[in-house]
Amino acid sequence: MVLLVPCAISPLYMDRDLLKQQLKYTLEGTDFDDQGELYRGKVRDNYVNEDTITMVTTDRISAFDRVLGTVPFKGQALVELADWWFGETADIVANHVMRRPHPNVWTVRRCDPIQVEMVVRGYITGVTSTSAWTAYEKGDRNFCGNELPDGMRKNEKLPEPIITPSTKAVQGEHDESVTPSELYKRGVIDPALFKELSRISMRLYERGVSRAADKGLIFVDTKYEFGISKGKIMLMDEVNTPDSSRYWMADDYEKRFEKGEEPRKLDKEYVRTWLAEKGFTGDGKPPKLTDELRIEAASRYMEVVESFTEEPMQLEVGPVDESIYSILNPFAY
Ligand SMILES: Nc1ncnc2c1ncn2[C@@H]1O[C@H](COP(=O)(O)OP(=O)(O)OP(=O)(O)O)[C@@H](O)[C@H]1O
Ligand SMILES: [Mg+2]
Repeated sequence: MVLLVPCAISPLYMDRDLLKQQLKYTLEGTDFDDQGELYRGKVRDNYVNEDTITMVTTDRISAFDRVLGTVPFKGQALVELADWWFGETADIVANHVMRRPHPNVWTVRRCDPIQVEMVVRGYITGVTSTSAWTAYEKGDRNFCGNELPDGMRKNEKLPEPIITPSTKAVQGEHDESVTPSELYKRGVIDPALFKELSRISMRLYERGVSRAADKGLIFVDTKYEFGISKGKIMLMDEVNTPDSSRYWMADDYEKRFEKGEEPRKLDKEYVRTWLAEKGFTGDGKPPKLTDELRIEAASRYMEVVESFTEEPMQLEVGPVDESIYSILNPFAY
């Protein structure tokens, strides 16, 4: 049974019971045989057709490039927030979204993906082996072609935002941060296109910083993916969600930074830190996510969404795959 939950008095992300109820119904994956050719990414099930893709954002959560489990309402939260950002950035670059037939689903324009992830960073941070902070701590003062000053501390704001491109790894492998010249040498992208993507990415990041500041958040860093459709550059995949971006609370950032404390985080870093504390940073068997962590993660995803959209998410407690299929295929039931 699908139960529509109307606007609540307190924000929904605080309604732990609601999140708990959904734990058993999370969308792990879909397997529709009549929606196009299925390509499963870590988070999205993509049904590829000639000019379009039916893109189902599942509740899967990945960290360190591995799928670890599911988080209630995560798929819907990602789509909702990305939709909001696509709207906020449409004057900077065209994007792939055509329709949103279901809270978890977009019909998108199929693009030729550009095989570079455009990472923009305003702060030096991270816990993964590929993070800017890890490299800096080891003494590296040039990160993907960007000179970094001496004497920086973890989570410090960079003098200027920087672009640190990475390759799009094939499934199961880790993305690799590289210099632009390395990308040219490998023939992944030509300098003119890279420059144009850098210009667009920087504008997108600046827009992100300013909108986040309005909501009391620091937009720390992010990743953009682009493709080409009919000769035009398109922003594809998703934009500025907590999966692709770090968000910190602005109000006590300075105070905490001065004391050497970690900022309060509204992003997936919370999950990464939990995993790292359990000794998992990408290799070996990942620990099983506890229900408590899944609920906390859900709450944080939803808090970011509601901070930006300023509307409570309309949530359906119940099996998400059934509700998707009944919308994509209304005659099946
Ligand atoms: N409009 C589009 N046209 C073509 N491909 C797209 C489009 N939008 C997104 N993609 C690709 O579809 C996939 C989306 O799935 P998802 O985000 O789960 O993948 P991922 O885990 O991030 O990456 P990977 O595919 O490497 O596993 C990505 O490979 C993304 O690059
Ligand atoms: Mg992706």
